[in-house]
Amino acid sequence: MIICQQPNEIYGQVRAWQRDGLRVAFVPTMGNLHAGHFSLVSLARRHADRVVASVFVNPTQFGPNEDFTRYPRTIGPDEEGLRAAGCNAMFVPDIPALYPLGATSATRVEVPLLDRILCGAHRPGHFAGVGTVVLRLLHCVPADYAVFGSKDYQQLQIVRHMVRDLLVPVEVIAGPTCREPDGLAMSSRNQYLSPTQRALAPKLFAALRTAASAIQMGQALDAVVSSACLGLAQAGFEVDYFEVREAETLAEWRSDVMHGVVLVAARLGSTRLIDNVEFVLAED
Ligand code: PAJ
Repeated sequence: MIICQQPNEIYGQVRAWQRDGLRVAFVPTMGNLHAGHFSLVSLARRHADRVVASVFVNPTQFGPNEDFTRYPRTIGPDEEGLRAAGCNAMFVPDIPALYPLGATSATRVEVPLLDRILCGAHRPGHFAGVGTVVLRLLHCVPADYAVFGSKDYQQLQIVRHMVRDLLVPVEVIAGPTCREPDGLAMSSRNQYLSPTQRALAPKLFAALRTAASAIQMGQALDAVVSSACLGLAQAGFEVDYFEVREAETLAEWRSDVMHGVVLVAARLGSTRLIDNVEFVLAED
């Protein structure tokens, strides 16, 4: 596995592969890799001849009181894991490499239709930071495919929107959410949970599944949502939002839309967890 720190090195390598007729897939990450990330590398390998993963903890997507400084950085094990997963190149830029004119006043990419709702309403500027770094990464790694997890459902839709809108020549591929045996979505932030919180955490996925089946059975949206919020609050979660949306556009869900998604963000102590479940209504 090649390791590149400089944008021009990884750019040259990707272009060289493409000149040889090889297709390249790219998996951007913030490191501290787990089975969810590695599943995206496997998916990337199924689509392409060469796989590049990046590890970069992006400062512009963290709010002032968020966990940028304590976000787990485990570059050694990440490198080993990527090697074992069959990754061909690892891109590990530092902040000046991706933000040559500084991160605080960086040129930003916003997606106004999608970046202010749901998580965007609770984490102002977060998705502008994501769009900003993903576009920079795609400039450094001009891959044929870019692979993102459905676990971060809103992020995935924002990236898709940005790629279409800014004519970025890459095909976005979505991978399914990898879960622990008890249903908790794998996340680098799960390690912040105390044993008691960890035992409660799977209730989030359970609440999403209950809500998705209730909607499929035709129960009223308001009742479904308020019962889910009440259940989670009683279990000890502080719910930022629990919402049912149209899967493609993230617009408010209406019962004539077949493909929906239930999304939640909730806190256990200071740890914020997100998850979602898609559903399809049966044809009458
Ligand atoms: P990070 O949280 O490291 O996630 C990197 C990729 O792994 C994202 O596409 C995310 O959706 C996916 N992922 C995380 N947990 C997953 C799980 N349990 N199952 C499947 N996929 C999972 O998301 C980011 O980094 C950053 O915002 C980034 C896109 C790299 C921009 O900085």
